[in-house]
Amino acid sequence: MTSFAYTSGPARVVFGPGVLDRLPEEVRRLGRSRALVVSGAGTAGAAAQAAANLGPLLAGHFAGAAMHTPVDVTAEALELVRSLDADCLVSVGGGSATGLGKALSVRTGLPQIAVPSTYAGSEVTPVLGETDGTGKTTRSAPEILPETVLYDVRLTLGLPVPLSVTSGVNAMAHAVEALYSPDANPATGALARRAITLLAGALPGIVADPGDVDARSDALTGAWLAGICLGTVRMGPHHKLCHMLGGSYGLPHAPTHTVMLPQVMAHQAAKAPEAMRVVAEALKVRDAPSGLYDLITSWGGPTSLRELGLTAGELDDAARRVDIDGVRALLGVAYQGTRPPGPAAVPDFSALTGQVLASFAGAPDPRVRALVTDLVKVLHDYTNRNDLTQQEWEYAVDFLTRTGQLCSPTRQEFVLLSDTLGVSSMVDLLSNSRTPQTTPSAVLGPFYVPGPPPEPPGADIAGGLPGTPLWADVLITDVAGGPVAGAVVDVWQSNDDGFYDVQLPEQAGPVLRARFTSDDDGRVRFWSILPSEYPIPDDGPVGQMLAATGRHQYRAPHLHFMISAPGYRRLVTQLFVAGGAYLDSDTVFGVKDELIVDFAPGAGTPPDGRAVEQWHQVSYTFRIAEEKP
Ligand code: BEZ
Ligand code: FE
Repeated sequence: MTSFAYTSGPARVVFGPGVLDRLPEEVRRLGRSRALVVSGAGTAGAAAQAAANLGPLLAGHFAGAAMHTPVDVTAEALELVRSLDADCLVSVGGGSATGLGKALSVRTGLPQIAVPSTYAGSEVTPVLGETDGTGKTTRSAPEILPETVLYDVRLTLGLPVPLSVTSGVNAMAHAVEALYSPDANPATGALARRAITLLAGALPGIVADPGDVDARSDALTGAWLAGICLGTVRMGPHHKLCHMLGGSYGLPHAPTHTVMLPQVMAHQAAKAPEAMRVVAEALKVRDAPSGLYDLITSWGGPTSLRELGLTAGELDDAARRVDIDGVRALLGVAYQGTRPPGPAAVPDFSALTGQVLASFAGAPDPRVRALVTDLVKVLHDYTNRNDLTQQEWEYAVDFLTRTGQLCSPTRQEFVLLSDTLGVSSMVDLLSNSRTPQTTPSAVLGPFYVPGPPPEPPGADIAGGLPGTPLWADVLITDVAGGPVAGAVVDVWQSNDDGFYDVQLPEQAGPVLRARFTSDDDGRVRFWSILPSEYPIPDDGPVGQMLAATGRHQYRAPHLHFMISAPGYRRLVTQLFVAGGAYLDSDTVFGVKDELIVDFAPGAGTPPDGRAVEQWHQVSYTFRIAEEKP
């Protein structure tokens, strides 16, 4: 049970390559006609293009935005806003341009259109941080949030690789901290997961080819989603540390995030295991902190505060500036760039998997191709995710070898394995349980013997074996309830000790199994004995698997039926004894509620007049489906 409050920003987002061309339309949409473009030093080209696109809607251009939004720069730009009588703001660039746009908007009430060119995410947050000579002040208010954001993927194509990596990891940090934020909620959780997945998928592509539009598009989408996280939930120790390092030591914003994130994640891992699991899954690594560190290294990103210019002598002082448990040690490893503890980096298997998949690409049967291809993907992923050792692989091969060696015409250990892993029941559900008007099916099991002895109505199939007599009276109908006459109804069950005839070496010939034919009313009646729970064969690999995993080997008491009639789909099912043992934990997962029925004590003389003292009875109506034409 979780409780949370969630407020989402009202910003309008327009996304896609070339959306900067729609800037005039967006200005008019806000009812404005005199836009001031604000930008920083690094995005002159994009800002010039924005100004050119605006044409007659352009009031002017201020190109002096600076890092950390200094108030004197804002004051200078404010003069220009007033002197030009601008009625809206267009910020083009990274965090500095967005920050200036916000600072101007909050002072003038003018609406803003943000056109980000990095992955900073601040364009979708209601937060403004400003610096003056004495330090940094941060405030948050709904009116700080830009009204419109234009994400033009084209503007990011020129972002240099090192900046793309650090800006991308900066974005990831918003998502990571959203996952363990005190305000964490399902909406930001989902956005964060998606943001990390998108960024982790995009960054290697950008490193390989900075002009890869798809990778750029994914990174920008990830940055947007991560920005929403940043704007909607409180950030944690990572942001606290990065702000301190930036504010007090002038360390560059995005590279500092890149160095600190894996280290802070390692520091947080014990407190936020679920968040780390989600991050690891999104990054496709085994362990989130060390895995991210390895990824950053592979993308050429910075890993130490030392390389960003912090000195060893500043560490003690820095540690005093934030109130975080164990911060000195954390800053120490971040300074050195030590890899967080975790499993060793694994080779990239994608080429190997790709080769194997390609080898099946020419399979002529499309279904075979699809099944084999997916099997390879699942097996490779399983092997990789679990870091399978040579010894474990050899054990698995030996297990399967022994499973195969035990198979014979009367023993199917592979089917038993499939049964105990729930696969048989899953196939059964997929194949046979899509017609709710019919009786549910249940697994066939290994003890059916084709062609059981035909018996007349009312016969006793117990062959004199001990047990509580059971009178079964069942009806076979179609889905409309009409009787199905002439249906072939095979029944089989175990004896009172839980063994089927085929398991008993001393048993000559079939017993507790028979074939009946339904009469004109669709009816089948016979005598048997009450079925009991029984263990599945446990003297082979499947038994070892159950023992090794602490599972029991019991099936809930049941009576098997196989019903066939011309023009109808064959029904293979079982009736389970209500109140019987193991109904909740049947070892082959075969029990379905609709198949649990009363095998109640009978009163007085049985319907056929047989002289028995104690007897039980079961009655049931099986609804079978017509074969599709
Ligand atoms: C059975 O019901 O006979 C059965 C089904 C699956 C595995 C073992 C036995
Ligand atoms: Fe059975």
